[in-house]
Amino acid sequence: MRPDLSNYAGREQAYVKHHFLADYVERLVFKVASAYPDVVYIDGFSGPWKDQGQNFEDTSFGIALEALRKAKAEWKRIKGVDVTMTALLVERDPEAYRRLQDVIPLYPDIRIKTFHGEFVPHIKNLMATIPPRAFTFILMDPKGWTIDMNAVAPLISRPNTEVVLNFMFDFINRFATIEQPAIQAGLDALLPRTHWRQRMPERDLGASERAADIRKDILVSAICEVIARLGRYPYVMETPVLYPTKDRTFYSLIYATRSDVGIEVFRECQHDALKAQDIVRDQLKADRRAQATLMNDMFAGAPTGNEFATKWMAEQEQAARAALLAMIPEAPASIRYGDVWPAVLAKHGVRSRRLARIAAELRSAGTVKFLDWARRKQVPDDDYRVQR
Ligand SMILES: C[S@@+](CC[C@H](N)C(=O)[O-])C[C@H]1O[C@@H](n2cnc3c(N)ncnc32)[C@H](O)[C@@H]1O
Repeated sequence: MRPDLSNYAGREQAYVKHHFLADYVERLVFKVASAYPDVVYIDGFSGPWKDQGQNFEDTSFGIALEALRKAKAEWKRIKGVDVTMTALLVERDPEAYRRLQDVIPLYPDIRIKTFHGEFVPHIKNLMATIPPRAFTFILMDPKGWTIDMNAVAPLISRPNTEVVLNFMFDFINRFATIEQPAIQAGLDALLPRTHWRQRMPERDLGASERAADIRKDILVSAICEVIARLGRYPYVMETPVLYPTKDRTFYSLIYATRSDVGIEVFRECQHDALKAQDIVRDQLKADRRAQATLMNDMFAGAPTGNEFATKWMAEQEQAARAALLAMIPEAPASIRYGDVWPAVLAKHGVRSRRLARIAAELRSAGTVKFLDWARRKQVPDDDYRVQR
């Protein structure tokens, strides 16, 4: 179920985050529940936090619980299978933890276990609670960046696990230049062995958009490397969440998976979340203009020419096309299309359907040759061999 925007006044970035989460958890839990008797959702920094809804429907755990409930009911209906759904929720703040208890009676169909205190010291308890054959989704969404990633490694490196981390890029970027030892030690714990500091450009690059992009690439690459290494994930991807009305990244959602299906679902959810983000931001900007002029803005909702998603998707598509071509060997060598698309999608923000269309266009243009293309096929199958 998509989140309701009316619950997010003044924190529209959380709407975009929840839009992505709702889509992603719902689609993947449903798929995973066909193959695993146990599905576990872990929220390491659960809140509730600034929720405005009646029944936690605008919190990450509320969204996940709905997805678990829906998938459980569907599998029961379709196949008569009873998947055990579990949510393990950790919260440090005493008042938030007290409120968290109110969610338990709302979901009698799901095993909910809450943990009071810091996330990292609870990792042992969390691991002891996960059934051995479970598939686990882990969300780490702290307010800041203080996560000791080495300590988290045993949890995220479990088999059959996926991770979403909210990487508070803008805070991290601002704190990265503050030389207080405690701050620097915290950043090193988040980004161990990445040499992120040495990779950063000269500090006098200033506040230009270009400088922010360079710093973002370095910091986001560093956290992706950490998760890939410590969690043993071949695919770690990022989607940006912008400030509601400023054209700057607020945070990045980092997603780690070991499966091709995960990459595919991530790109679908990412595109939908970025489009939703554009609509919300456009409306907010229009509201601001309308307030400023004390009249309704005739252009509210119309494209402003500044849409982030449209530009981003065009850039990503161009890069994906180049990456696709670069992976296809010269004849007489060839490669299976199924060995190409996951690597391209893991790096570039295109949907798998769009990439398949691009491959078909390249074939029509004579740029590449598919050796096994069947008549009337519109897009390649994974088994088709392709060469240049
Ligand atoms: C950004 S909020 C989480 C929001 C939630 N994921 C959502 O989208 O609805 C972060 C929460 O983590 C809690 N928290 C902060 N540091 C923590 C820690 N070290 N361990 C556990 N909880 C922590 C805060 O009290 C707060 O409720």
